[in-house]
Amino acid sequence: MSEAVVETVNLERRYKRGKFPVPALNGVDLEVAKGEILGIIGPSGSGKTTLLNLIGGLDRPSKGTVKVDGVEVSKLEDPQLTDYRLHKVGFVFQFYNLIPTLNAVENVELPMGLAKVGPAEQRERALSLLESVGLDQRSDHMPDELSGGEQQRVAVARALANHPSVVLADEPTGDLDSKSAKKLMEVLKSLRKEEHATFVVVTHDPIVVAECNRVCAIRDGKITRESRVGEDGKILDHSRFVMDALF
Ligand SMILES: Nc1ncnc2c1ncn2[C@@H]1O[C@H](COP(=O)(O)OP(=O)(O)OP(=O)(O)O)[C@@H](O)[C@H]1O
Ligand SMILES: [Mg+2]
Repeated sequence: MSEAVVETVNLERRYKRGKFPVPALNGVDLEVAKGEILGIIGPSGSGKTTLLNLIGGLDRPSKGTVKVDGVEVSKLEDPQLTDYRLHKVGFVFQFYNLIPTLNAVENVELPMGLAKVGPAEQRERALSLLESVGLDQRSDHMPDELSGGEQQRVAVARALANHPSVVLADEPTGDLDSKSAKKLMEVLKSLRKEEHATFVVVTHDPIVVAECNRVCAIRDGKITRESRVGEDGKILDHSRFVMDALF
């Protein structure tokens, strides 16, 4: 594989529930290449969010390692971890999580402000990202003046603000209709080209699966299958893959 941006080795996460540990992740070995849109699909409770939380430095593994851009995330102490989350990863959630009192451009500027980027540079980058997600005409609109799909595209622009090594998206189309979901995937594909952005997208959505470069199926905390891709770059046996992964 070309340059791996994310590498997990024998990653495990157990939660204590009463006397018995719950194995949420059970030995995951995963490599994500630079510029790839990797899908993670699996039934509810299979460990998808747990995996994203470990890569994103929101949680710590019980065993195994996570490396992002060669840095071992699992070894970072708290202040460095905060820095890691601000600079190295971008997050996109199902319900957009925009700040309701800030307009679109201010929402995109927020992580740059925290990273002490100067105001002029913040504005320039935020407007350019809004243009990339097709919302340059809406930069002064408040979140409640935007549709769900538009809010999610602002959230994607915000996730990319500090040029992260990887963007982690947890069910980004979970609250969108199919047309908005398709549009969102078009945006991810163009950002992959323009920004060389790398995405890990957790999903139940066949529309998302169809547009990923590669998809891993996860079950009971383990990667059980990986999609095959045809010469046209499309996932082979798409419907079958989705059915087998989810049921
Ligand atoms: N904080 C926690 N404490 C105890 N158990 C947890 C905790 N978080 C997750 N789990 C358990 O770990 C397992 C994996 O959870 P996870 O949230 O990663 O699943 P998921 O694949 O994201 O599911 P969904 O599709 O429903 O979002 C589940 O059995 C869950 O109940
Ligand atoms: Mg989840």
